[in-house]
Amino acid sequence: MIVLDGVSKSFDAGQTYAVRDLSLSVNDGETLVLLGSSGCGKTTTLKMINRLIEPTDGSILVDGRNVTEQHPVALRRSIGYVFQGIGLFPHYRVDQNVEIVTKLAGWPADKRRRRVREVLDLVGLPPAEFAGRFPDELSGGQRQRVGVARALAADPKYLLMDEPFGALDSITRDSLQQELKSLGKRLGKTIVFVTHDIFEALTLAHRIAVFHEGRLQQVDAPQKILADPATPFVRELFAKPARQLAALERGN
Ligand SMILES: Nc1ncnc2c1ncn2[C@@H]1O[C@H](COP(=O)(O)OP(=O)(O)OP(=O)(O)O)[C@@H](O)[C@H]1O
Ligand SMILES: [Mg+2]
Repeated sequence: MIVLDGVSKSFDAGQTYAVRDLSLSVNDGETLVLLGSSGCGKTTTLKMINRLIEPTDGSILVDGRNVTEQHPVALRRSIGYVFQGIGLFPHYRVDQNVEIVTKLAGWPADKRRRRVREVLDLVGLPPAEFAGRFPDELSGGQRQRVGVARALAADPKYLLMDEPFGALDSITRDSLQQELKSLGKRLGKTIVFVTHDIFEALTLAHRIAVFHEGRLQQVDAPQKILADPATPFVRELFAKPARQLAALERGN
């Protein structure tokens, strides 16, 4: 379980806050989606969980231990991270891009090689075809799959995914969403997934945390948010999908 308690982050000594007084927990086995528009603090929140960014205030517990008391490298071993954008090393082949994580985790070479093949299969990139390619020899969707494979490689309990399917056409995006859903279920991962796409949030989330200008507006199951938005901002944000759902239910 991940617990954030009163977490704030200012990059300018307290003049403005990227994240303000955030309290939130992520339950084991759930997919929690952080939803909000550009600049509302989603990436900052994600990066504070694995100490790529240090909070200005508050505490973050992963499995009951404060992250500041854990070595960043050990912490990141238990937390897979899919970066916003692609984040692959362009001069590494696909297999090397994935293997790097298991290397950092200190796995022996034969176990690493087996694991690389296993996770590439898992994300639908047969190693015989894809392991030896370079990132610029892949489509955008295939690159994003490599990002997901890399995050899964060291078999972390937690996955932090920062807009992993951004910049994809809606059909590819839809199929990756469905695959992630079944992967999450099959592997029992606890996932924090960032998006600014309401439909993606509704598709993937057990619960959605809605952010606005660094503040948490509401965290609830999708149905609950649609039926009972906690703030005017949330109401407005979900008004359009709520109207579309109502129209679908009426059959027009
Ligand atoms: N290293 C940094 N130094 C200064 N300000 C920063 C830094 N990182 C983020 N910020 C600011 O903090 C705020 C939140 O940024 P963050 O990256 O968390 O937003 P986001 O919700 O992920 O947005 P997007 O959807 O565009 O990725 C923004 O105003 C951003 O400019
Ligand atoms: Mg971001």
